[in-house]
Formats: sequence, C-alpha cells, structure tokens
Amino acid sequence: MASGQMSRDEALECTRCRHACHVMLYSETASQLFGRIPIRYIVLMQMRFDGLLGFPGGFVNPSEETLEAGLTRELLEELGVAVPVSTEDHVESCFSPPRSGTCSSSSRLILHFYVKKIEEEQIREIEKAAASTAADHGLEVLGMVRVPLYTTKSGGGLSCFLSHSFIGVARSQLLNSLLRLHLVSPGDLREALRGSQR
Ligand code: APR
Ligand code: MG
Ligand code: MG
Repeated sequence: MASGQMSRDEALECTRCRHACHVMLYSETASQLFGRIPIRYIVLMQMRFDGLLGFPGGFVNPSEETLEAGLTRELLEELGVAVPVSTEDHVESCFSPPRSGTCSSSSRLILHFYVKKIEEEQIREIEKAAASTAADHGLEVLGMVRVPLYTTKSGGGLSCFLSHSFIGVARSQLLNSLLRLHLVSPGDLREALRGSQR
C-alpha cells in the first residue's frame, strides 16, 4: 500500500474524520473519432462548481450510512441516476493532502475512491440525466465530461485534457486507474504527460 493510504476498515476507525467518496465510471466503446481513431473506453469525469475537474461523489457520513450507500446517494444527486456502488468497487482510501493553512487534525478528510465498469448504454443514460433531471445540474455539477484517451496528430487529446486543473488528487486517481486497468499503455501515458507540460 502506498504511503498515506489505508484500508477501507482502517479509514472508518477515524470517527473524527470527515469522509468523502468518489467513483470513476467507465465503459468500453466501439465508436471511432472521425471514423478512424478508436475511442476504446468512455471514462466519465465532471466539471465541478469550482471550475475544477473531478469525479462524481461527495461527503458521506459513516455514522448514518455505509460509504457505498452514501456514494450512491451522492451519485443520484449529481448524475440523476442511482448507480449502485459496492465494496468490491473500492480501490483506495487516503488522507486528503492538506491545503496550505488549512491542515489540522480536527479537519482531516479521508477520500475513498471507487472504480466501476458499466455498459456504454448506462453511460448515455447518465449523461442524459446529469444534464436534465439531476438535482445538482447547473449547481454543484456544471456538466459531465468524457476523458479523451487518444492522442491526435497535432498532439491533442489526453495531453490537453491533463493540462486542465483538477480537484485534490483526482488527476492522480485518473492516471493510476488508466494504468491499472490498461485503458492506456504506459508509453502512451508517458507521451501524454510530456505533452501536457508543454
Ligand atoms: N481528490 C481529492 N479531494 C477531492 C476529490 C478528489 N478527487 N474530489 C473531491 N474532493 C474533495 C472536495 O474538495 C471536497 O472537500 O472532497 C470533498 C467532498 O467532495 P465534493 O464532491 O466536493 O462533495 P459534495 O458533497 O459533492 O459537495 C458538497 O462540498 O466543497 C463543498 O461547499 C461545497 O456544497 C459543496 C459541498
Ligand atoms: Mg454532491
Ligand atoms: Mg461532489
């Protein structure tokens, strides 16, 4: 386990901590950009109210609900669809890196991250609901976005996406997941990271 990380059970022992759960929803797809660039996977993120990119989810109160029930509740608010998330989808839990000036043990935030593979059809349903019936639409959530996993001839795609600003550890949660699930090869990811720094 990487430093700063803990198991789901260890994390729940901290009753003074606040807990937040977020999920990366993704699916396979056969669609091709311009009829020639395979999209391969649809990975969902969102444009948050603060202008940062992040994953859907939010604060959960473990004294009132399980982490997964709380996450499913947040998804209903933010996506307009109750995507059931289970303990099997849990990937990691870690302390949120403190922002300068706000670090104190009494305001510790533990972040729980989940990944769930769904069908392309469900992704379309989520996008439709998130842009219409979701309670948080236009409020906490400004819109859902798909992550481009390819690199175009002019160097656009994943590298440009990675150059945007992300909430907390969302960017590394994305990168780790792309590698772990083999959604992008290590070589292509290195290339995209180099491009994002230009
Ligand atoms: N990595 C690190 N921190 C994150 C990530 C992430 N990927 N995603 C969210 N956070 C942080 C946010 O900064 C926030 O402090 O986790 C906390 C909860 O996540 P949100 O999704 O923002 O919570 P949610 O319950 O959906 O939003 C409700 O959050 O920031 C407040 O006042 C704001 O009313 C809003 C409230
Ligand atoms: Mg929310
Ligand atoms: Mg949220």
